[in-house]
Amino acid sequence: MTRVLYLTQSKERAEKAGAVLSRQAEVTIDCASTLEELLAMLSSDQGSAGRVLVLIDLDSPDLAGPNLVGTVKLCFPDVPVLAALRKEELSSIAEASRTGALGFVMVGDGYWADLPAAFEEFMRRCKLEQPRFEEANASEHCASLLNELKAACARSKALSQQLVKLREEESARIARELHDQLGQALTGLKLDVAWMQRRLARLPENPVTAGMQSRLKLMEESIDGTIAITRKICSELRPGVLDDLGLVAAIDWQANEFKKRASVDILLLLPERELAVAPATATAVFRIFQEILTNIARHANARHVEVKLEESNGILHLKVKDDGRGFDESALAAAQSLGLLGMRERAQSCGGTLRIQSKSGRGTTVELSVPANPPSAV
Ligand SMILES: Nc1ncnc2c1ncn2[C@@H]1O[C@H](COP(=O)(O)OP(=O)(O)OP(=O)(O)O)[C@@H](O)[C@H]1O
Ligand SMILES: [Mg+2]
Repeated sequence: MTRVLYLTQSKERAEKAGAVLSRQAEVTIDCASTLEELLAMLSSDQGSAGRVLVLIDLDSPDLAGPNLVGTVKLCFPDVPVLAALRKEELSSIAEASRTGALGFVMVGDGYWADLPAAFEEFMRRCKLEQPRFEEANASEHCASLLNELKAACARSKALSQQLVKLREEESARIARELHDQLGQALTGLKLDVAWMQRRLARLPENPVTAGMQSRLKLMEESIDGTIAITRKICSELRPGVLDDLGLVAAIDWQANEFKKRASVDILLLLPERELAVAPATATAVFRIFQEILTNIARHANARHVEVKLEESNGILHLKVKDDGRGFDESALAAAQSLGLLGMRERAQSCGGTLRIQSKSGRGTTVELSVPANPPSAV
């Protein structure tokens, strides 16, 4: 239903417009003879269902025509305003449109019959250009926006789960390739060097064979070093201890590795027995733990670190507390904090939550809670 509010000083025009428009289904018309009356009508119409349009005669004594339009638009910016023009007022069209009129209709003798069609066209344009924001539509609109937002969040969560999963799969694949291809090639080289050493040992000793032996010794050491590096890279890419021994053992092992490198005291409070944890969750927890320790080594300058892992009612809780220099929590929102972001993503990817508390000079505590066997573990 459209309600037309017509500001006109002319009784005759009010009646004519009323007569032609009242024949239209879905349209009602009310006339105001002053700007004040029109604004009062618009105020009382606020919040009512249906569309309201304002039609303004530009020859009102209150204000000059175009200013009337501007005043109504200033008070009710969402209400479409149409100028009602008589033949002799055509020169005001441009000015009326500058002050916010969406269009004009011709009124006066010879034009009344065309008024309904002009209105229909105007309402069609209004619908396209400026749909009125009705209460019902507003809540429908909000609900649909909310649904879109929820769907976008679900998509982004699924995407981040997929990314985490792909990253782990890719790491595992590279670890296997390195182990199998490079590992075997290096072992082959090592066997060849050993073979040459044995052969050389059978030859009479002279400066040439001694030089070759010492070169072979260097080669052997270099191959051993490369094998050790390859193993280290493999275990970083895919910690074998996690697959072979389980999460508790892997955390224990990683903490001890950390202790060896950083001169930090670590208090480990771990369950006595291995826990039953979904493989993807174990990987996520372990990766988060690695990032926490890396951050402590890189940023905290801590002396003591406490690591606590426990399980209760199917939820794993990991808490790592350091007494280092801490940081301003606003860094948590910094876009470049990829380590912290990655931890959160991993936690979310298996249905968990991550809490980071830190204060400058007062250490950092990271707490992770995650279902040990989430239904949709990746
Ligand atoms: N345990 C900690 N003690 C003190 N500061 C920390 C600690 N953990 C994180 N921070 C601070 O938070 C910032 C963000 O950490 P985050 O792991 O996201 O990034 P990063 O370690 O600097 O780089 P990377 O993306 O390689 O991990 C760090 O730069 C550091 O200032
Ligand atoms: Mg980091």
